[in-house]
Amino acid sequence: MSNLNIEKVLEVHHWNDTLFSFKTSRDPGFRFENGHFTMIGLQQDSGRPLLRAYSIASANYEDELEFFSIKVPDGPLTSQLQKIKPGDEIFVSRKPTGTLVADHLLPGKRLWLLSTGTGLAPFLSIIKDPDVYERFDQVILTHGVRFKSELAYREHIEEELPNHEYFGEMVSEQLLYYPTVTREPYRNNGRLTDLMLSGKIFQDLGVPQPNVEEDRFMLCGSPAMLKDLTGILDDWGFRETRAGVPHEYVIERAFVEK
Ligand code: A2P
Repeated sequence: MSNLNIEKVLEVHHWNDTLFSFKTSRDPGFRFENGHFTMIGLQQDSGRPLLRAYSIASANYEDELEFFSIKVPDGPLTSQLQKIKPGDEIFVSRKPTGTLVADHLLPGKRLWLLSTGTGLAPFLSIIKDPDVYERFDQVILTHGVRFKSELAYREHIEEELPNHEYFGEMVSEQLLYYPTVTREPYRNNGRLTDLMLSGKIFQDLGVPQPNVEEDRFMLCGSPAMLKDLTGILDDWGFRETRAGVPHEYVIERAFVEK
């Protein structure tokens, strides 16, 4: 198909029974903005590809593409995708798009990246974007999961990125990471909604209660998470960017049920 590139799987990493990620080759002509998603998929016996939307977890200057996926046992695509091996071929649409882009927000002081589950994926790209650290004094990445084993990329975020040869210093000084677990004890517990309403997350991070002048948000998670978090932001006076008019927050559904 004309709008699909065929890429090679280079590496696959299984985080636990329910999550995996993989890297593929990248067509040199494939362009995207950090935070974008694209359609990816596999050839079916019928000869047609089965495609689903996936956020791109790699940054737009990297040579390889990376994707982070849930494994749904009876999911049409993920039941097949979780079996991919290096050397396999995968379709990647040449038309990436999305709303989780820094340009879609008014300038601000702090950028909050609020994610649950695989909603982390677009933010992995954004926290590797030097431009984001130029625009905001602080970048705060939250990842809400049920179990500790779902805190994928934790070591990458906490240990590798702060030592990155080009932007490690920006990450060390400006990126705050707040993983939180809801169904077993951990250093942070509870849903992001509750942590925001109680103010605990702001105390833990040593940042002020968000205000409309200084704070900007990108949200990526389940429909329920988006509904509840946008309800809180709306109550606090923040507005969603719509129809190309930048405001204080943008949202994208984490693409689950695959
Ligand atoms: P909980 O364990 O209390 O359901 P999921 O895998 O269902 O997408 O959930 C990922 C994480 O998001 C879990 O920690 C879950 O908490 C949390 N979560 C689920 N629904 C919401 C919501 N409406 N608002 C905030 N967090 C949520």
